[in-house]
Parts: sequence; structure tokens; C-alpha cells
Amino acid sequence: MGRVCDRLDEIYAIGGGPGANRVGYTPEEDEAHALAAGWMREHRLEVDVDPDGNLVGRLRGADPSLPEVWTGSHLDSVPKGGKFDGALGVVAGLEAVERLGRRRRTLCVVAFRDEERGCVGSRARVAREALPGAFVETHVEQGPVLEREGVPLGVATGIVGYVRGTVEVEGRPSHAGTTPMEGRDDALCRAAELVLAIREAALGIEGAVATVGRLEVEPGGVNVVPGHVTFTIDARAPDSERLDALVAALPVDVELRRADPVELETSVVADALAELGEPVVGLPSGAGHDAGVLARAGVRSSMLFVRSLNGGVSHSPDELSSDEDVELCVNVLARALGMLGDQPAAQ
Ligand code: GLV
Ligand code: MN
Ligand code: MN
Repeated sequence: MGRVCDRLDEIYAIGGGPGANRVGYTPEEDEAHALAAGWMREHRLEVDVDPDGNLVGRLRGADPSLPEVWTGSHLDSVPKGGKFDGALGVVAGLEAVERLGRRRRTLCVVAFRDEERGCVGSRARVAREALPGAFVETHVEQGPVLEREGVPLGVATGIVGYVRGTVEVEGRPSHAGTTPMEGRDDALCRAAELVLAIREAALGIEGAVATVGRLEVEPGGVNVVPGHVTFTIDARAPDSERLDALVAALPVDVELRRADPVELETSVVADALAELGEPVVGLPSGAGHDAGVLARAGVRSSMLFVRSLNGGVSHSPDELSSDEDVELCVNVLARALGMLGDQPAAQ
């Protein structure tokens, strides 16, 4: 498995470690895009960068009037992220398109910008124009199901819904030594109560999760009672009803950006798995993905999951998939893209 794994290593080395450090719209994400654009040119794809910085490599089909078939994912990462999240989908997509060669339909490999902070690039793209007939995103599972089931690949059935927002908590900054405990207005203590109440809100709803992942304390002096706290909320649930219930239970009254849960097309990936003699295991995605954005925009979108090892850990340098599973995913992806790429009319 030379090339795909070598390319994953090259992308992972950007930013110097530990882990992947290619936050969206930073020079590190730019560097990954430049690397991928070079590989696209090596494969003689037509390279296009859209106004939001999304990178698309296009292999023109025999009948360019037919809807295009897209594959790919994202090249940004969370801080100290894993090697496979996002990058695998782009690198596997390039390899699969290279193996397939020219088909009836145009095949495109995309690297969407800044997926981790809310699918920024893919949302901008679908807001600007109607996208292709079909999209197949390959992604590391980021969970324990496939490893537990002992199967290398899976098909995503849908993507959870989520809300995200920012909470501001006001207090009164004052001297840490001279302000008595009674009468303090400590913004961080009030924020801490909210953080725990957010956790309780999610614990009360089956399948829901809620996370405060970033918290900033001002003025941030060791000897100053905190006067202002800003923190983020990321809250998710598997269906709209539970997402509504979760939003209602959150102890904050702020504007939340919402992405509803969405079902994905399963038959394309399932057929490709079955044709290659692989078991077909369907599973929902607890993580957000660009495929969800495209599905909500009406694109026929599918996801091929690759088994995560290490208990499914992700958003961590411990994220791991085996070379063998990666090789297999390229075969299955190529089969799926080949089936879509040879379809004569919009289906
Ligand atoms: C993307 O990785 C997400 O936050 O679900
Ligand atoms: Mn991802
Ligand atoms: Mn991610």
C-alpha cells in the first residue's frame, strides 16, 4: 500500500506535530491543499480552486453533460488531531479516480475547506451553486462499532444533527486577594455551573451528547476574579425530536447554528461492498461530515467508513486504521465510483 499511506504520512507531517495541526484557513491547511493540488496535477486532473478555497480535481467524462460524480473529504484538522480524519477521504478518492480512469461521467476529487469548525467550505459551496449528481465520502469511522464487529468497512446510514453556539458570561473583575468571597461576581464560577448543567441536559436524553470544548477567561490574571467568560457549545442528537428536546434542555439562551440530522444513500456503497464480497454493516455517524451538507442540499450522498482501531478514538493522535483496511477502502470506493460514473442518465 505504498502511495496512499505515504501521502497520508506526508499530510500528517505538516505542522510538525504532535498529531495533525491543520486548522481551517491556516497556512498548514493551505500547505495540505497545495500538496493535494500537486498530486491532482500528477494524475492529470484539471485543478480548480473555488472562491472559498475548496480544491477540486476533475477528470472529464466521455459525456460531460451528465451530472458529475464527486468524492473526497477535507484536509483541515482539529488541533492535535489524527492522521486519517478527512485526509483519508481525499487521498483515497485520488487513488480511486486514478485507477478508474475516464468514465462516462466526469469524476471529481474535492478537498473542502475547514470542515472541523462547521463544514465551512462545503456549506459555502452549496450556498453558491447546485452541486453534482452524487457524492461518495470515505472517512475513518471515528467510533468503535466496526472494530467490535470485526469488519473492515461500513456504510453510513445517516449523520446526527447538531447545534453550535457561543455563550458569554459577565461578571465583575476584581482583586483576588482583597475581594471577600461573599459579594464576588465571578464569571468563571457561573460558567462552570452552566458547563455542568449542559452535561446534565445531554445525559437526560438517550443518544444525545453535549460538549464545551473551548473556554476563554478574561482578564486571565492569576490574581484577578474572572470578569468575563466565553465558551462554546456543541450539542448533538440522532434525530430531530431529540435535538429539539436537547436544545430546550440547554440552560442557555443564545443563538445556536443548527444542522438537522440527515439520512444518507446506502445502496451505492452497500452494492460495492457486496460485489467485492465484503460484509455490509450499516451504522449512523455521530460526527458531522461534508457529505451531510451535500445531502441536505439534495445531492445523492453516501459514506464509506473505514474501521478505526484503538477503540475508535478520533480527534486525537491515537486515531488509527490499518494499511490493509485503507487498501480495501480504495477498492470499494473505486467500485462505487465506477458504478456511478458509468450511469448513463441522472438517477
Ligand atoms: C467533525 O469532525 C465533527 O465535529 O463532527
Ligand atoms: Mn472529518
Ligand atoms: Mn474531525
